[in-house]
Amino acid sequence: MRKILLIHGPNLNLLGQREKNHYGDLTLVSLEDLVKTEAKKNDLEVICFQSNHEGELIDFIQEKTAEVDGIIINPGALTHYSYALHDCLVDTGLPCVEVHLSDVDNREEWRKISVTAPACIAKISGKKEQGYIDALNLLKAYKADNAN
Ligand code: DQA
Repeated sequence: MRKILLIHGPNLNLLGQREKNHYGDLTLVSLEDLVKTEAKKNDLEVICFQSNHEGELIDFIQEKTAEVDGIIINPGALTHYSYALHDCLVDTGLPCVEVHLSDVDNREEWRKISVTAPACIAKISGKKEQGYIDALNLLKAYKADNAN
């Protein structure tokens, strides 16, 4: 694996200010730096993108698909209703891992539904930033298992 996308959806630009009990203390930039540093140890480059707009996320993913080997995505609230993002992830044909900082299965009922997770090889939630490191390891293992 050489390059991966790290995608964040709506409101995740406000990490560090949002409900810290759910989302932790890190800003988005520090979270991205942490993932980049960890990835570098495995010779991986991380391309980061955040948007509050569904269409911009889809445009970016489509534009970068040919360049990358996997996707780590925290779609924010789009997780719970964006069939367009689900289809976009499927259409990449790439291994994708969905990450949530908070424990979405133990909050409001509507957060338990993920329409994007079925397009992913795994969904990780409730582990704050550690979830992203686990996602990196999952992509690495997936690549090793599927090498030909
Ligand atoms: C989130 C969980 C979503 O339900 C929420 O809308 C977010 C963040 C998380 O990282 O825990 O914006 O994806």
